[in-house]
Amino acid sequence: MLDRSCAWVSERDDGRGALRVATPRSIRIPEGRARSILELACGAGVDASCTVWWVGGGVRDLLRGEGNLDLDLVVEGDMDAFLDAFVARSGGAVVSRSRFLTARLRLAGERLDVARARQERYPAPGALPVVAEGTVLDDLGRRDFSVNAMAISVAPELGARFLDPHDGRRDLVARQLRILHPGSFEDDPTRILRAIDFAARFGFALEPGTEAEARSILAAGGLLRLSPRRRGAALERMLGRPRTAVLALDLAQELGALHAIDTGLRWDAETRFRLIRSLSALERESGAAAAATNCFLLTVLILAENDDLKLPARLAGSLSLHRGSATIVAELRERSAEAMRLGPRSRASHAHRCLRSLHEVELARLAALREDLESWVRRENETMRPLRLTISGDDLRRRGVVEGPHLGRALLRTLDARLDGEIAATGELAFALAVASESRSES
Ligand code: CTP
Repeated sequence: MLDRSCAWVSERDDGRGALRVATPRSIRIPEGRARSILELACGAGVDASCTVWWVGGGVRDLLRGEGNLDLDLVVEGDMDAFLDAFVARSGGAVVSRSRFLTARLRLAGERLDVARARQERYPAPGALPVVAEGTVLDDLGRRDFSVNAMAISVAPELGARFLDPHDGRRDLVARQLRILHPGSFEDDPTRILRAIDFAARFGFALEPGTEAEARSILAAGGLLRLSPRRRGAALERMLGRPRTAVLALDLAQELGALHAIDTGLRWDAETRFRLIRSLSALERESGAAAAATNCFLLTVLILAENDDLKLPARLAGSLSLHRGSATIVAELRERSAEAMRLGPRSRASHAHRCLRSLHEVELARLAALREDLESWVRRENETMRPLRLTISGDDLRRRGVVEGPHLGRALLRTLDARLDGEIAATGELAFALAVASESRSES
């Protein structure tokens, strides 16, 4: 088993393809689920004569002292043999495989992503890379930032090794994001949005050369070379966290990334304030989980709101938003036009009609606009939307009301009367019967 006090070593490519030991370091993987799965996987690697490496964000987060660690593995050697050995050793299962030399494993509810060590080349800037088998050093060398290009192997029989060929640990200490080569952002401009995301989440800066490269690719329209789907997905990742979306937007604006996505996007003190308010309204009204799920959509909604009337529909397309979200963004003004006319003296039943079909992000946006709207949104969520009549159509039929549109009308009018506080639950039946007979005689 892994010696808990073992000293790890940092190894580095000496330029001739060999590994040379650099600074000895001591890194501990805490006892727990990540460590036992890693030991299992590395043991399966020994069975299959492969070397198995833990790579990417999980290693970065281990060194940052984070608890919840992603398990991304890279295998040097015969991937099929490794997968067979892993299944035999662990009782886990291979869930899926892809033509990009990757597979997904499941073990006791845990997910592990496994890839054959790869090298890659980009046929055109912004296009997806072409991959081929390579060494772990190739694999680390094709990654986005030095802090994401470290690897750990914990094969029980072979001891533990730590690979840091691009000085990721040094950059972690310096709290900076550094690309591995000058063409990195040109090859994959989504990495600029990833850099902004990591910077906002970890409080890191972009290393000066990396920042200059990002600015230059943005100014040259790098983000526009991406497909709308990739652009939208990368932006969603960057803006999907309520705690860091505002910081990410500050940095994106400063670097010119928003302007590079659409010159109509406005991020100034007013939109910033509005996003902060609407995010807190969303969290307060819908809870933390819903705020996380809808953070990106809300952010796009706030960014889309300016004098350029065509911007919302343009964004829905250029970010390839999912159908429901695209409609909400593209019809930003139309969908909330009636609600915008609500005032402190509106009737509750009317307010409910204006608000009931709106999505929670639209409600959060409205709540951040004006105090009276905020209080309507609160009432909608707390009392109006959950209100259910104690009577149903059956109760009216049993009392002799015959089938017809007046029956539904009577129930709706009763709901209005409850919302407006004109009747109590005990008065619903009498009220509905009176409305039904009145509206039947009218029709
Ligand atoms: N990666 C990359 N270039 C990309 C996307 C991913 O080099 N455009 C590499 C990085 O080494 C990254 C790893 O793939 O660490 C896994 O990517 P992902 O899961 O998207 O991010 P994490 O780094 O794991 O970060 P987190 O999940 O915490 O956001």
